[in-house]
Amino acid sequence: MQLIDGKATAAQIKAEIAEEVQKIVAAGGKRPHLAAILVGHDGGSETYVRNKVLACEACGFKSTLLRFEDTISETELLNEVDKLNKDEDVDGFIVQLPLPKHISEQKVIEAIDYRKDVDGFHPINVGRMAIGLPCYISATPKGILELLRRYNIETSGKKCVILGRSNIVGKPMAQLMMQKQYGDATVTVCHSRSRDLKKECREADIIIAAIGQPDFVTADMVKDGVTVIDVGTTRVPDATKKSGFRLNGDVKFDEVAPKCAYITPVPGGVGPMTICMLMKNTLSAGKKEFYQ
Ligand code: GUN
Repeated sequence: MQLIDGKATAAQIKAEIAEEVQKIVAAGGKRPHLAAILVGHDGGSETYVRNKVLACEACGFKSTLLRFEDTISETELLNEVDKLNKDEDVDGFIVQLPLPKHISEQKVIEAIDYRKDVDGFHPINVGRMAIGLPCYISATPKGILELLRRYNIETSGKKCVILGRSNIVGKPMAQLMMQKQYGDATVTVCHSRSRDLKKECREADIIIAAIGQPDFVTADMVKDGVTVIDVGTTRVPDATKKSGFRLNGDVKFDEVAPKCAYITPVPGGVGPMTICMLMKNTLSAGKKEFYQ
């Protein structure tokens, strides 16, 4: 069994990005600039956005954090999005989710200029991804592809089972894993209504678990030699931690790991790759790689 070290891989990629930025700037090019909108004071969102700003520093990007109280109206927020769309210094930006209930997340996502949508959530980017055109690919599926590639894990022709059908992970992951230019795999998507989920999983060469249920995947559900990618990051109470909680994956790691060829730990697997892929998308935005 080999552990897939997302933390080390992410650090390496950030160093590669920083080196490229240094070259761009030395040649008189523009330093990539990421802006982030954070609404309210959700603990998880605060942490994510703080880490995104720190990652920008590590990569040599300029970053701008715009904070608003959760009393901001939808119209006011849409106006802020419009300002960033028009700001020529900003290469890409994100609106951290979730948003307060009185604001339509979909409306906000669709208001973002798709050419600056480094989260890859805009329907134009989602659609282009689905048909294999150049675009921003959302960070979590992109990070998983990068881990599989860097660890030379064969995916072509393999049977890949994806647990979960969310817009952010399950669906794009399935699209990418089936495409010839990415996973080139045979893909099955399982969800809460799937009839024989255990049987599907036992036939899989690669399992990507993204359902948000701690310890859902157990040893009896996987075959020997499987590769397991654990996207779960549920906060569960843990009195031994300073924060009072720990992150728990969707996979019962201790019993599943011995059967695996490769497995990602939680934390330290997919998580660190996510922000790192946002940085890659921002670098692409700075270089106008996909759109003028
Ligand atoms: N909330 C949780 N994950 C994400 C993400 O990848 N992007 C944004 N904008 N919000 C999130």
